[in-house]
Amino acid sequence: MPQLVHSIAELQQALASLRETKPGSIGLIPTMGALHQGHLQLVGAASDCDIRVLSIFANPLQFADLGDCDDYRNYPRQLDQDLALLEGSVDLVFAPSVEEMYPQGVPDIWVRSGRMGEILEGASRPGHFDGVVTVVAKLLNLVQPDVAFFGQKDAQQLAIIRRMVEDLNFPVRIVAVPIVRSAEGLAQSSRNARLSAKGKQQALALSQAVEAVRANPGAIDQVRQELAAAPGVSLDYLKLVGEDLLEDSVPALVLCAAWVEGVRLLDAAPLD
Ligand code: PAF
Repeated sequence: MPQLVHSIAELQQALASLRETKPGSIGLIPTMGALHQGHLQLVGAASDCDIRVLSIFANPLQFADLGDCDDYRNYPRQLDQDLALLEGSVDLVFAPSVEEMYPQGVPDIWVRSGRMGEILEGASRPGHFDGVVTVVAKLLNLVQPDVAFFGQKDAQQLAIIRRMVEDLNFPVRIVAVPIVRSAEGLAQSSRNARLSAKGKQQALALSQAVEAVRANPGAIDQVRQELAAAPGVSLDYLKLVGEDLLEDSVPALVLCAAWVEGVRLLDAAPLD
């Protein structure tokens, strides 16, 4: 089992002794737990780092009403299972309580995600990305990694974190880790567990649309029409955006969000 710490003091002690034995690079993999193949891909991407730290913290600030919602209360918490999955692949797991991370309650000072956090996913989840960048900034300050790993499925989160690191001069390299897909192409997500076999089949329309746009960006309007008409799919958006998430910038990413069986699913791909 990897070493598990819950407090900031223990984290700092553990990091200091790891640094003595392995004086190389530190990689951080921030997660909210309930680990799946997608997270293990992040862990695999960190294998070149000398010290690998994985954080598990379901951050209330990034949920509706600062965590006073069913989505946050029902968020799966399965530390023992998560630790078993991490056997041999990380050095340290930091799993703080809410009180440890926010001892004064909701913090007075936040990082703002600004315009990038208000569009796309942010339009249906006001404040979500402010909560994300605030906790990621804290984790970067606490662990002081050389590299931090984030999944490409949450492409908007990744773009906003990259911008925060650039705008606020965090001395860390952000690595984007490709989406893990099922054999048929469905992007790995903890939300897939809420889909029936039929829903999983219908959800393939998202990855097919993203791939079609990636291969031929000029066909996006046609692909969007087909996706909007796909059985069981209720489309929110299929868009080509730049690194800054704007539609009138040089296209860099295909982003897609849709509901299948009432479950909101995301897919994304960088353009070649
Ligand atoms: O992607 C996630 O799991 C979370 O948004 C993150 C980056 C760990 C911040 O809480």
